[in-house]
Amino acid sequence: MADHAVRDDIDFVSGEFWGRNPEAELAWVREHAPVYWDGRVWGIARYDDVRSVSRDPKTFSNAGGIRPDSGPIPMMIDMDDPQHWARRKLVNRGFTPRRVRESEDKIRAVCDEIIDGVCERGECDFVWDIAAPLPLIMIGDQLGFPPEDRKMLLEWSDAMMCALTGDPDAGERAGDAFVGYTEYATRLVEERRTEPHDDLMSVLVHADVDGDQLDLDSLIHESLLILIGGDETTRHVITGGGYQVLADHDQWERLAAERDTLPTAVEEMLRWVSPIKNMARTATCDVELQGQQIEEGQKLLLLYSSANRDESVFPDANTFDSTRTPNDHVAFGYGAHFCLGNSLARLELKVMFDRLLERLPDLELAEPTEPSYRPANFVSGYESMPVTFTPTPKLAT
Ligand code: HEM
Repeated sequence: MADHAVRDDIDFVSGEFWGRNPEAELAWVREHAPVYWDGRVWGIARYDDVRSVSRDPKTFSNAGGIRPDSGPIPMMIDMDDPQHWARRKLVNRGFTPRRVRESEDKIRAVCDEIIDGVCERGECDFVWDIAAPLPLIMIGDQLGFPPEDRKMLLEWSDAMMCALTGDPDAGERAGDAFVGYTEYATRLVEERRTEPHDDLMSVLVHADVDGDQLDLDSLIHESLLILIGGDETTRHVITGGGYQVLADHDQWERLAAERDTLPTAVEEMLRWVSPIKNMARTATCDVELQGQQIEEGQKLLLLYSSANRDESVFPDANTFDSTRTPNDHVAFGYGAHFCLGNSLARLELKVMFDRLLERLPDLELAEPTEPSYRPANFVSGYESMPVTFTPTPKLAT
């Protein structure tokens, strides 16, 4: 199969592998076996290969599903063009850079409301009190989910992500969450069918796709892709990026003094965290890549977090540098499936750090050691990150 030794500490499908933040293993793969067969799936570790596979959907298809250990689900990311584009264009206009810029005031108001919830306490958990609510509120509102359902939606989305750990209990919780979400989304679909609102769920429900409408299964999975795609990912970049600038307080202070450099820092946070660890493609024919023979039907994993530490592209790649330019990372993927929500995520990150620097200027890590990662093989990030700051009053309303 492969002409290199299979290391038993490299298992791209296991949640435990990703949960230990496997920088050393990925560096070894990049150097010694950049197209690496782990016994179940090919790992594509180098930046140039991740990009070339991503831009060749005829050979490396999405239609086999984006997870290495399961098949396709009826959602845009598990399709190739033209079906993929027919779906994507339905929701695309809600996420164009211009539409997203128009939501900046709302993002700022949501960030202030989140900070108001903790500012008088002098301490909080950065993951759950600061980072998790923002993307959930933004994407939940856009989909048209009522505000009172946010807590439940966050629990469901979290439970579904935790299923990718290989832990059987987590699998059961995820099953329950999926059943809960399915019932919930089905009710919402029925409501929007009879009474459309100005929201994404109504757009999807009433969409005309080549003369047809999306069936219920597709509506459930497309809305779930947008919810989870927008929620877990952005949260992990706020926390992982926040940890880096707080651990090296000079970077935090520099950002406070030069607020207009925040977009550059945000790009480095995205590169550094790469919260989506990988996406799968399926080979549509036998093909050779970096001297390895990939067989038709085999799955490949695009290892974004490895590509983003590729020294041939990012000098001193293992150093977090909030001033890094250029920074052409692949945290949002590449090619036809390039993240639909990238402009929204970037703006949420910029505004959140801007408001934190303004309102909690002496924010500090309560514990200097890096928080532990969630052991999940797809989207992974910190589980908790206690912080302290001088208590400040809420904003006057
Ligand atoms: C920091 C936050 C985010 C990261 C790192 C991220 C990352 C990614 C990646 C790696 C892909 C796959 C690209 C590929 O296969 O080439 C993707 C696709 C996607 N993302 Fe994001 N994402 C983020 C935020 C969001 C948000 C806020 C939304 C909300 C709309 C979103 C919705 C989607 C959707 C719908 C797709 C599938 C697009 C397609 O198949 O055409 N993501 N994202």
